[in-house]
Amino acid sequence: MEKVLYINGEWSGTELKKIEVLNPANGELVGTVASAGKEETRAAIEAAHEAFGPWSRLTAYDRSSYLDRLYDLMMEQKDEIAEIMTKEMGKPLKESLGEVQYAASFIRWYSEEGKRVYGRSIPASHENKRMQVIKQPVGVVAAITPWNFPAAMITRKLGPALAAGCTFIVKPPKETPLTAIKLVELCEEAGFPKGVVNLLTGPSSVIAEEIMDSDKVKKVTFTGSTEVGKMLIEQSAKTVKNVSMELGGHAPSIVLDDADLDKAVRGIIASKFRNAGQTCICINRVYVHENKYEEFTKLLVEETRKLKVGNGMDEGTDIGPIINRDGYEKIKQHVDNAVEKGADCVLGGKGKDEGNACFYEPTILKDVNHDMLIMNEETFGPVLPVQKISTDEEGIELANKSPFGLAAYVYTESLSRGTRLIEGLDYGIIGWNDGVPSAAQAPFGGFKESGIGREGGTEGMEAYLETKYVSIVI
Ligand code: SIN
Repeated sequence: MEKVLYINGEWSGTELKKIEVLNPANGELVGTVASAGKEETRAAIEAAHEAFGPWSRLTAYDRSSYLDRLYDLMMEQKDEIAEIMTKEMGKPLKESLGEVQYAASFIRWYSEEGKRVYGRSIPASHENKRMQVIKQPVGVVAAITPWNFPAAMITRKLGPALAAGCTFIVKPPKETPLTAIKLVELCEEAGFPKGVVNLLTGPSSVIAEEIMDSDKVKKVTFTGSTEVGKMLIEQSAKTVKNVSMELGGHAPSIVLDDADLDKAVRGIIASKFRNAGQTCICINRVYVHENKYEEFTKLLVEETRKLKVGNGMDEGTDIGPIINRDGYEKIKQHVDNAVEKGADCVLGGKGKDEGNACFYEPTILKDVNHDMLIMNEETFGPVLPVQKISTDEEGIELANKSPFGLAAYVYTESLSRGTRLIEGLDYGIIGWNDGVPSAAQAPFGGFKESGIGREGGTEGMEAYLETKYVSIVI
């Protein structure tokens, strides 16, 4: 399968250098994509800039009907999208299908939300004055997206941007461009006017530099590492671009001694082992009250042991491959470092390097502490360290001991203890007895070095709007 760039309603770039996309489960070639350079990036920016005026002047109802068509097409072709996703990214097919549904939910929700972009009228202090606030689209948006959710991290940006009246350029990562191409093919089939949606595949550094330098691109929305996010924030200063940054996490989970342990184990497994632990909001460390520590850990090991590692295309696989060798080495380093420093590895602890594919067993480490790397850095793998705590306050203090503040989880049946926990945690998303808090209608984003702004919900729409205040003397 050879795929090319989508600029101004045309597929182009067959003559460009090709980049291979390999299946992380076996190293097989899944497809090739074109490597866009400066010229193609400028053409995409120009196309989105030209298309902005007419698209932004359509009514919200007209824009909504395009988004509805895209939603329907995604649902009709969900099996095909899911298969592409599993082959290029590795996640189990059942998870890919879940992701397609999740991705489409952003298109449907923002198709409706676009009709509810309201301004306001402010009472004036002079009889002959009228004061109004109106909302307008920010302009051309460039989205730089990650490999761990190849579809949903595009649609969480595309849905609100297009609904608001912005035009869009997507730059997917080198690991998962084929899902992005499929989504853009569906945009074409849905009939979006030319230039409204554009796609660039190729080297991030070249494409991002052009995007960040351009004064025609008014907003950059990025999901990825904190390191790259910081670079983009610095580069955005040149043209004072509006930015949304969804960056790294290191999610804690606190399990109190009045928690329903079955619920806690179910939620923690769902959070940690989804996508082989390669999600920004997955639980990366668990703090358990000493009264329930042994019982909780035993149950957690019993349930985690049932998870099956393998190729995401095989029936029954729960945990697919690790995306690449760097990711695999980091997981190994975290486990080895914890064990060297005294952690007790009660499940797993081993990887399988097949040369062209790397897998890691679901792993549970007991008796960890904050001297270990794993308690201080995002692992991005199927490893769960568990630490004993004596009080609720100790749980909050340890959970907040991180420069990151994306997601945190609490397990307690007590309204008052739970309320104190959620209020004390410096995190943008909290799951209370819930391991899977994400939803199209809810704000997603972090405190501290986990990012700037929110995606999803009404906040996610606001991110693509400018506020204009108009003072009128009559
Ligand atoms: C992420 O962790 O990057 C996204 C996960 C989600 O949207 O649930």
